[in-house]
Amino acid sequence: MDWGMKNRISRIIKPDTGRAVMLAVDHGYFLGPTSGLEEPGKTIKPLLAYADSLMLTRGVLRNSVDPRADIPIVLRVSGGNSIVGEDLSKEAITVSLQDAIRLNVSAVALSVYVGSKYEHQTLKNLADLVSECEGYGIPVLAVTAVGREMVRDAKYLSLACRIASELGAHMVKTYYCEDFEKVVKTCPVPVVIAGGKKIPEKDALKLAYNAVNEGAAGVDMGRNIFQSKDPVGMIKAVRDIVHKKATPDKVYKELKLGK
Ligand code: R5P
Repeated sequence: MDWGMKNRISRIIKPDTGRAVMLAVDHGYFLGPTSGLEEPGKTIKPLLAYADSLMLTRGVLRNSVDPRADIPIVLRVSGGNSIVGEDLSKEAITVSLQDAIRLNVSAVALSVYVGSKYEHQTLKNLADLVSECEGYGIPVLAVTAVGREMVRDAKYLSLACRIASELGAHMVKTYYCEDFEKVVKTCPVPVVIAGGKKIPEKDALKLAYNAVNEGAAGVDMGRNIFQSKDPVGMIKAVRDIVHKKATPDKVYKELKLGK
């Protein structure tokens, strides 16, 4: 691995702890104005100081993030689908590498839909993107998207993560599941977890805690942070769990959730 690639990865996975707190705010690319992200700039601004990196689309980056902000960018470069469209798995690469470089990204992210109708297309997207990114030292984060019909168990997620890594992904984002250690053990590149749909704060904190304790390199969390009544408190709490080994019980007490 060359210097540029290693340097960019170290901006996302912090070398002092070997872990990452990524803030995911890319949901609008197929969900439109998701709850909590109606005005992305307002959501993102107070959270930036506590995120190691920001995962988003180029539209939100250009329009809602100050270009002077000191935050590594993980740019979503797949899409072309929508929640009301034909099939969620029908994704294409939506950003040229030239534009990603102009936006000074630290990594690019793309979804793969293993087992779905357009599985081949999304895996080919990944392989093509990795081949192109290798030439510029830009790491690729593969997101193992789960179609509605797929079971999020260790058997399926380890299949999807392993395939993504075999095709050259430098990092993989997936879901936490029972026997998560198996997913991490059989995937040769760092694995981060998505938070998934909003759940009670304590459960989301336990999810992050269990994931890192079972081998995840961190989290790429969105809704369980920005849809919380205390988004800043949540990202700080997640940060303490990921980087400082804090327990969910301890950090939960600090949240300001009101009644
Ligand atoms: C999918 O919509 C995106 O890739 C999100 O970034 C991902 O699902 C993580 O966000 P959340 O924690 O809300 O699931």
